[in-house]
Amino acid sequence: MPKPADMHQHLRRGALLHLVAPMVARRFSKAIVMPNTVPPITTYEMVRQYLLEIKLATNSEYRSGKPDFWPLMTMYLTDTLEPHELRAGLDQKLVFGVKYYPRGLTTNSDSGIADPASLWSKGTKPYAVLRELADYNAVLLLHAADGFATDLWNNEGRFYGPGEELDPWDQEPHFICNTLPRIREAHPDLKISVEHLSTAIGADWLRTHGGDTLGCSLTAQHLLLDRRDVFRQGFRPHRFWWPIIQSSEHKEELCKLVAEGHPFVWLGSDSAPHPVGKKETDCCSGGVLMAHAGIELFLEAFEDIGCLHKLEDFACVNGPRFYDLKPSDLYITLVREEWSVAEAFYAEDMSEESGGLDKVVPFRLGESIRWKLVD
Ligand code: NCD
Ligand code: ZN
Repeated sequence: MPKPADMHQHLRRGALLHLVAPMVARRFSKAIVMPNTVPPITTYEMVRQYLLEIKLATNSEYRSGKPDFWPLMTMYLTDTLEPHELRAGLDQKLVFGVKYYPRGLTTNSDSGIADPASLWSKGTKPYAVLRELADYNAVLLLHAADGFATDLWNNEGRFYGPGEELDPWDQEPHFICNTLPRIREAHPDLKISVEHLSTAIGADWLRTHGGDTLGCSLTAQHLLLDRRDVFRQGFRPHRFWWPIIQSSEHKEELCKLVAEGHPFVWLGSDSAPHPVGKKETDCCSGGVLMAHAGIELFLEAFEDIGCLHKLEDFACVNGPRFYDLKPSDLYITLVREEWSVAEAFYAEDMSEESGGLDKVVPFRLGESIRWKLVD
């Protein structure tokens, strides 16, 4: 198949970056790089520095002008992100979008937006940033979750009062019903990507409104698992990520959405590695390494759904087109051959503070995967 594009990827920094970047570059021709590093990517200079680190961590030949992997940078939307910092990145064609995180709802989201209303309230910095994005035809990427009900809200019989904390399974539905329409109304010309769509109501909304200015990325994990898999015989920290896996009805709707083959639905792996100490602990971080099988798992999901013939548009064409990019003219080869994810990975931390090995448990450790990448 043509070398696909991963429109949602957490490469991290330091030792983890050096572990993950080669996995991604082997499988994908480009990747939208998430900005929720520590500290978050909020200036043009930080974009340049991070891009340099990524290039050094892959073995791609950048000087040739035709590398086999291209990192597509994003900036982190904070309450104070400066429009001129974004403009510099857009002008240099290094930055392709801005990521919205609701404060406190996922990994490294402490700098996220405190009140989503600032996205549609004239006079705020985030509003000005969204105008800048629209002027450049660049993309607003949404972590589509709310922490609290804005008004009285009824989600299929579950009632919330204004300001009430939302159940994690209701965070995306609330955002889709209440927050997304307001952003769209205030910025009708802005390209918006709903990241890692996870609910039936989200799938419905996309079907109705998806098009040139609205699309979504989907992960393999949300197509492969439902929440029974997360809790079978006990809680499985290595099947825990945001947005949280929903019930099987939701999974079925997401599978239907990809089988329908819409041009506004594309691949975003949301590979999000954490050292094992952040997973097998008191407060388990959301996110799991998927990059070791970043495309293989999508083949499996699409084969299960019975729509392998729809994979190429989903993985190679739709995402790049939304971002005004061309599909790659490179190819990768996969064979239908079972292999097992036998071992954890170790990231060699060369920084002086920690100086040790970070163990990372990949998705499906100890299990097998039906498709194999061959060089
Ligand atoms: C991501 C991470 O670890 O950075 N975690 C996750 O559960 N997906 C952040 C995110 O994409 O929400
Ligand atoms: Zn993510």
